[in-house]
Amino acid sequence: MSVTNDLGVSSAGSASLPLKEKIKARVPRALLIFYRLFRTGDIVSVCSFLWAKAPCAKFLERWRIVKQLYRITYNVPCGHVQSEMIAPIKAMLAVPAERQGVVVEAGCFKGGGTAKLSVAVRCAGRELVVFDSFEGIPDNAEPHEKNIWGGRVRFLKGDYCGALEEVTSNVRRYGDPSVCRFVKGLFHDTMPHFSQPVIIAYLDVDLASSTRTCLKHLWPLLVPGGILFSQDGHLPLVLKVFDDDDFWKRELKTSKPRIHGFGTSELIWCRKEFDQGSHAGCQPAVTPKIPVNKEGRKESSD
Ligand SMILES: C[S@@+](CC[C@H](N)C(=O)[O-])C[C@H]1O[C@@H](n2cnc3c(N)ncnc32)[C@H](O)[C@@H]1O
Repeated sequence: MSVTNDLGVSSAGSASLPLKEKIKARVPRALLIFYRLFRTGDIVSVCSFLWAKAPCAKFLERWRIVKQLYRITYNVPCGHVQSEMIAPIKAMLAVPAERQGVVVEAGCFKGGGTAKLSVAVRCAGRELVVFDSFEGIPDNAEPHEKNIWGGRVRFLKGDYCGALEEVTSNVRRYGDPSVCRFVKGLFHDTMPHFSQPVIIAYLDVDLASSTRTCLKHLWPLLVPGGILFSQDGHLPLVLKVFDDDDFWKRELKTSKPRIHGFGTSELIWCRKEFDQGSHAGCQPAVTPKIPVNKEGRKESSD
């Protein structure tokens, strides 16, 4: 599998790169990032992040985070685009420090998102708990065929595999391992033993069954005002889980929350409502507009 990050840099060796990739490899990185900022529309989320109210991070710290996000994107194969990572980071840094709670990432692949989240989590003085099998997508018979834009999708056993050693090595190089706790295993085995309050949960798990397990175990731990993001809003079977009133009522003993970005965006999010409405909580995030190409895939090159 050749994974391309959102700067369009392939993880394959340079000898096997097509001409376009070879040219890109010669363009100075700063120029590539600058070009990419405008072409993908990342400029909007980067600016709104830099100028956002974030009690946990001053402007200079936010600037350093943005620089690090691009450094990571450039060096680690990532399954997201920058604006999709800026949204949870922005939400996390908007939470006042006195509110307790960890940040959870479910599904980390090679640890690109983990490294990114970890630099913001350090800034916020919190802990990042990372759940993954570290063996890729589990065996499944889910009939994924097309995403919401009509592009083909399928998730085979072992896809998106990042071994624990590879993930921790990427986080050591580009992020902050001291704020991370890695929980290895299938979600349905590991999550039932997890009980910490969660301020931000970020799911990128591809399967509807995995999403269901994450919602079942993480939603009850989300603090009022906390936000759950899913990076799988382009997958109809995952949307079906989010949209299932009966699931929310039966499994989670609550009514279905408003799901932002539903049916229009790869990154969707929902916020747990305040019980009394008097807490200072998490800022709503803006659902980024991700450019998609004709096949309905996120743009990842040029
Ligand atoms: C698309 S990848 C994550 C991409 C990553 N967030 C990024 O942006 O680079 C999906 C991940 O979910 C994990 N995963 C999916 N279902 C799982 C399950 N039921 N238990 C444990 N891990 C699971 C896979 O191992 C894989 O690392």
